[in-house]
Amino acid sequence: MSNLAAGAAPGKVILFGEHAVVYGRPAVAAALEHGLGASAEPDDEGPTLRIPGWGKSGMVVRLAAPNKAFDAIARAYAAALDAAELGRPPVCLTLDGELPLGVGLGSSAAFAVAILRALADFRGRPFSPAELLEAAATVETVFHGTPSGLDHTVVADGGCLRFQKDAEPAFTPVKLPAPVPLVVAWTLRQGSTRDVVAGLRARRDAHPAAYDRLFDLMAQTAEAGIAALEAGDHAALGALFDINHGLLNACGVSNLENERMVRVARDAGALGAKLTGAGMGGAVIAVVPERPARVVGALRDAGFSAFATRVG
Ligand code: MEV
Repeated sequence: MSNLAAGAAPGKVILFGEHAVVYGRPAVAAALEHGLGASAEPDDEGPTLRIPGWGKSGMVVRLAAPNKAFDAIARAYAAALDAAELGRPPVCLTLDGELPLGVGLGSSAAFAVAILRALADFRGRPFSPAELLEAAATVETVFHGTPSGLDHTVVADGGCLRFQKDAEPAFTPVKLPAPVPLVVAWTLRQGSTRDVVAGLRARRDAHPAAYDRLFDLMAQTAEAGIAALEAGDHAALGALFDINHGLLNACGVSNLENERMVRVARDAGALGAKLTGAGMGGAVIAVVPERPARVVGALRDAGFSAFATRVG
């Protein structure tokens, strides 16, 4: 075991196909430049986990002294220690970075992969890629119940992937000629991913033909999006973001805040913008190859959090 060990993992954005992916259509997701880093050091009172940037004034989780408020984080940490076959060692992990919690930017997958990498470094034996995916799935399950695997696969892989449930292979790489310049903005979520997915299922059960046509259109948009990504065509990508956002709105998963964020981004010069992830608040992404500071500034002036980044 080393005295100081470290691991890192990026966040992710869904570029196309959220929600439709639940109904067997393709989705495309990419790793962000922004992410989380974890460092591990000896701590006699450990296992301890510190996350200074999350919660109202940071989180400190000690497995020996459970705090109900951070129960899911503690269970996920315990699952990571088990996956690393470390038992309950005298270790303190500190998780830092620029990824907000719970807005659809892959924070739970980045949490899983960053702490697993730091624990593997701490024990002096890395996970194989397959072991890392399996362990990350176990940790993510604590947060999500039934994760599709999209988040932690993109976060562990670091690239841009097409994903289709029940397809063989489920994941295929999307080859980008250059990183894609995005602005990401976010606000608080209204309800959990589980609630938003359940609400859409109820609406779809009431009007299956109409919703299935929307999902088919999202699938076409995702395939056209892959072509735009592989061609490095930012104008086409922006137009397809706008179309995908309109379809998500038609599905009822965009709230007033999502609509405001995409409108502010477009008015400030983005080539297109859409919500990303489950919606009902959370994050939006905009294609901004030029003057991203202007779009970030307009979003912050409108009261949202935002940063410029690149994916892939
Ligand atoms: C949430 O990030 C993405 C959804 O498509 C749900 C899922 O794929 O499980 C809304």
